[in-house]
Amino acid sequence: MPFNISTCARPNILALEPYRCARDDYKDNGTNILLDANENAYGPGLDLSADGKLINGESESNDSKITIDLLGLNRYPDPHQHELKQLLCDLRNTHVHTQKSITPENLFVGVGSDEAIDALLRAFCAPGVDKIITCPPTYGMYAVSAQVNDVGIVKVPLDASNDFAAQPDKINAKLSEDSKIKMVYLCSPGNPTASLVRKEDVRSILEHPTWNGVVVLDEAYIDFAPEGSSLAEWVAEWPNLVVMQTLSKAFGLAGIRLGAAFASPEIAGLLNNMKAPYNIPNPTSQLAIQALQPRNLEVMYRHREQIISQRDRLLKEMPLIPGVGRFLGGQASNFLLVEMVEKGTGKASNEVALQVYERLAETRGVVVRFRGKEPGCLGCLRVTVGTEKEVTRFLEEMRDVLDEVFAGKISKLSKGVEEEREREASGVVA
Ligand SMILES: Cc1ncc(COP(=O)(O)O)c(C=O)c1O
Repeated sequence: MPFNISTCARPNILALEPYRCARDDYKDNGTNILLDANENAYGPGLDLSADGKLINGESESNDSKITIDLLGLNRYPDPHQHELKQLLCDLRNTHVHTQKSITPENLFVGVGSDEAIDALLRAFCAPGVDKIITCPPTYGMYAVSAQVNDVGIVKVPLDASNDFAAQPDKINAKLSEDSKIKMVYLCSPGNPTASLVRKEDVRSILEHPTWNGVVVLDEAYIDFAPEGSSLAEWVAEWPNLVVMQTLSKAFGLAGIRLGAAFASPEIAGLLNNMKAPYNIPNPTSQLAIQALQPRNLEVMYRHREQIISQRDRLLKEMPLIPGVGRFLGGQASNFLLVEMVEKGTGKASNEVALQVYERLAETRGVVVRFRGKEPGCLGCLRVTVGTEKEVTRFLEEMRDVLDEVFAGKISKLSKGVEEEREREASGVVA
């Protein structure tokens, strides 16, 4: 048979670094505390009854009315999603960063922001020729999508000695050197750093005097940052800026898969022209439209307040546990990046972090992320902020597990095994 997958499939796809999603490692078995994927532990930003039913417009105001038209599911959904786009614009037209307003013409909506990450690569980068800049430590999908599209990656790390700030001078120097770089992916607040990218740093890349390319700002966690932080409306001022957002985090709607890219009408037009025509399922857009109604936004804001107060509690109580070191990066998100340290020396340690990570998941049912292999993140775990109950249990289990690790109750790993386990624990995208 002449067919040979290893010569027939594209080499970049064959060589694709396999990755696992957070949920591939430790499943939701109903008792685990899942603090690994930066989801919203407080639930969907929808006004639901105690038993999880949609409140179907029974109140005076019908702005929470959810009418998923099951009888209409034989028809393809609306390819343009004008109403949903208008609501997203209404939310982001804060006029903090510009007096101009954005309109549905400035928007692309996709299956999570992961679709936008990929669509931008396909729109601007020729496979095997062009490149993007990423700034590690950062979200893993930029690199995975780049590799799928056979697009090279130039890394300009965040400044670990300065709260993981972006390094616009170094980025601009690379852009001057290499005309094949078409995009710069920045994450604000960063995953896993929780630091906001400074507006003047974004501006300084946007103003590069010779570079013909696009700055992509991923604002997946922006609603956990101080009011007015989003630069989405700024796309009205900059033809070379794209801002991505998602309903997966603050809105607690990771399950509906709805992401958005704000851009100039020209860029949004390109993305809309190339997308699969019916990319947003009808139930998804109906739920998203409802999530953006005032009554449901109130639920989202309430959950956000609860998350911020549990984040403050973690910031206060975690440092009291022996073995917990510094918090690295910022605090503008629904997770924290925290060091595990050696007893005695107080030095950040991947050995301790890995043992805590594995032990928490395997014996205590508490799942966090090991990030110790990322640049500047030695000894770090990334911990999603959970509910009050989850945080209480997390703090208890963390204290016990660190006690066990320091009491030497856990057998020491050989160097080779430790490295293999660190590699496995790192190969997760979320
Ligand atoms: C920085 C960042 N961007 C994008 C995403 C993906 O978002 P979505 O669920 O909209 O695809 C994530 C998910 O964890 C993320 O951390």
